[in-house]
Amino acid sequence: MKFFIDTANLKEIDEARSLGMLDGITTNPSLISKESLFSHKEIYEHYISICKRLKNDENMSAEVISSNYTDMIQEGEKLALLHPKIVVKIPITKNGIKTIKYLSQKKIKTNSTLIFSTGQSILAAKAGATYVSPFVGRLDDVSYNGLNLIQEIKSIYDNYSFETKILAASIRHPLHIVECFKIGVYAITSPLNVIYSLLNHPLTNIGLDKFIKDFHRKINK
Ligand code: E4P
Repeated sequence: MKFFIDTANLKEIDEARSLGMLDGITTNPSLISKESLFSHKEIYEHYISICKRLKNDENMSAEVISSNYTDMIQEGEKLALLHPKIVVKIPITKNGIKTIKYLSQKKIKTNSTLIFSTGQSILAAKAGATYVSPFVGRLDDVSYNGLNLIQEIKSIYDNYSFETKILAASIRHPLHIVECFKIGVYAITSPLNVIYSLLNHPLTNIGLDKFIKDFHRKINK
């Protein structure tokens, strides 16, 4: 069971580390745009700073922004060369599938992103993606059950013993996390605040309040 943090923010990464809830990082171009980074050079340096915070088998997904095959390959190889902990994140398009195939043959790890259907997840696995990222919350947003997609991908991958790992993405609330782990995904990736929300229970707050009050009522006497 792994918790990836969906962020490009160094403070948030350090906080997740101190909480003991950091098994990897996923970024995307929107998350990168929230940081004070203004050139490709700064972005690449930032990726390296994130990677330096990672341990052992932890890794970070960095997404390509090119869309044609030659550029995707070039960008993917450049990202992979930046740091050994980088997983190249590739949108699920026709060129994306070809790029995944090419990079996987070169033993470069890939994360097939923007997955919204089982069909897309099948092509990603056949192409040799290391990870597949189905977007649970964004499907829920348009009245499809994102968790059903996770369940379907899990059973298809199990049927054919695909090695591609399910990295459930677009996680918006605590039940998404719990349900994904019940299904048996390899990892979820979510913002840190959603992981914190797993802590919330009113009976915990009421119980803690009572324990402290009872203690002080006696000790203050
Ligand atoms: C996946 O890797 C994406 O970065 C991410 O989970 C998207 O989440 P969002 O739908 O909350 O933007």
